[in-house]
Amino acid sequence: MKKRGFLSMQGLDRDQIWDIFEKAKTFKEKGPAKSLQDKTIVLVFEKASTRTRLSFETGISRLGGHPIVLTPGSSQMSRGEPLKDTARILSLYCSGIVMRTFEHERIEEMASWAEIPVINALTDLVHPCQVISDCFTLSERFGSIKNKKIAWIGDGNNMANSWINAAVLFGFDLDIACPKGYEPDRMTLDRAINKGLKIRILDDPIEAARNAICVNTDVWASMGQEDEHALRAGIFSPFQVNEGVMEAADDCAVFMHCLPAHRGQEVTQQVLEGEQSIIWEQAKNRLYVQEAIMDILFSE
Ligand code: CP
Ligand code: NVA
Repeated sequence: MKKRGFLSMQGLDRDQIWDIFEKAKTFKEKGPAKSLQDKTIVLVFEKASTRTRLSFETGISRLGGHPIVLTPGSSQMSRGEPLKDTARILSLYCSGIVMRTFEHERIEEMASWAEIPVINALTDLVHPCQVISDCFTLSERFGSIKNKKIAWIGDGNNMANSWINAAVLFGFDLDIACPKGYEPDRMTLDRAINKGLKIRILDDPIEAARNAICVNTDVWASMGQEDEHALRAGIFSPFQVNEGVMEAADDCAVFMHCLPAHRGQEVTQQVLEGEQSIIWEQAKNRLYVQEAIMDILFSE
């Protein structure tokens, strides 16, 4: 089991999701197990983070473990030490690795050299811990989300790719509205479509939101795309989630955003702070779902 890790939702099956959700529910209601007692978990953050870093660090402490954060500037990684050497060194002292980085291939390289499990805390390709937790939040509210419709409006980025992977696991329909040229990852999309999932790529946010139980969006320029911010602001402006978009959704629909958000860009202040928004509940559940994932992967 030493190589078991969690790099993408594509590696999960429904039984494993069920285990994670059951544990997360218990940890939320009764507090977590002390399953990481005397274990050190290293968090390698090559990009900025508030929620992910805090929820993982807090979760490790609550599970009885000891978190250490490594950033490139504070380690030999910035001085060119190869990732394969870092991976083997981390494996000597620690029981698990949580990593946020740029190219997905980089976390795959870390996982291939590490002798301990690696959890993906976001790459350019996917953000699996976020979306698994978001599906937990939706399940708490709606029960089963199978055959329900979810809308993604905005960039076809790491979050959008993870929602596609989630559609495969949970069996919900997914409508994605994005500008031409900013569609999600083709391979991720084809895999889901080939499995018979109802996923549409649209150019109309209202059509995407129609009858959805959940409307999702994210920043127009992700980490690493800061130079494209002004260009993207123009291209993405018709894809803002506003009250008109939320009106097209189901009467019971919720608004979700992984945060950080840019009010007045991808979402209006009214929607973000409005009654349908569940962004704080969504952020809170990161803690319990990641505790469950770490309990399963790091306690062995
Ligand atoms: N949603 C999320 O991953 O937030 P951070 O970038 O603050 O970790
Ligand atoms: N798509 C965003 C998500 C941030 C949590 C990014 O990658 O920057």
